Amino acid sequence: MVFTAFIQYVEDSFGDVFVEQMISGCNLATEGAYTSVGTYDHGEIIQMVVQLGKLSDREVPGLVKDFGYHLFGTLVTGYPEVVKYVNDSFGLIATIDNHIHVEVRKLYPDADLPSFSHEFRGPDELRLLYESERGLADLAEGLLLGCFDHFKEEVELQREDLSHGAGTRVAFTMRRAVN
Ligand code: HEM
Repeated sequence: MVFTAFIQYVEDSFGDVFVEQMISGCNLATEGAYTSVGTYDHGEIIQMVVQLGKLSDREVPGLVKDFGYHLFGTLVTGYPEVVKYVNDSFGLIATIDNHIHVEVRKLYPDADLPSFSHEFRGPDELRLLYESERGLADLAEGLLLGCFDHFKEEVELQREDLSHGAGTRVAFTMRRAVN
């Protein structure tokens, strides 16, 4: 699903021609033909995002964050139950580690999942610690931004890298605007 969502993101944001140029500029065993239920070598998505960076003259971290923002919408459309029993973004974020990703693991035992721990610092402040050897904090940040938008909330997001810029251990502090 992440792969099909990525191709869709490139198509929506940059157009069909970019998708073709990006794929032909990579060396992919799949030749860019993905299905939402397949499992693929994550090196392929890295090759594609690097190629997209070259073609669009944009930095990879910004592209990954943008993609995370779009991916949140795709995930919610594909798995509507994840937002069904929560009222707001903080409610959803607090369930990633003990519910959402646990269910993902049951469905896809090989999924590469990060570890999250959260702490409420009052009703309108949440701190989330992201840890993963894959260092996809940019993706996490984009997903969080997509989540705030989904619930139409205004949330100030601060990011602190605790892994000397590696993006493998990152604290996100979120403050919600109180009406
Ligand atoms: C704001 C909410 C969320 C955040 C911040 C988040 C964050 C992440 C990150 C950063 C990864 C990449 C792996 C890594 O860093 O080690 C990941 C993987 C994944 N997440 Fe989440 N996630 C969220 C919500 C969801 C939801 C709602 C679903 C599905 C219903 C989901 C399904 C997945 C799946 C399937 C993977 C594994 C992809 C693979 O193995 O290729 N996530 N998540």
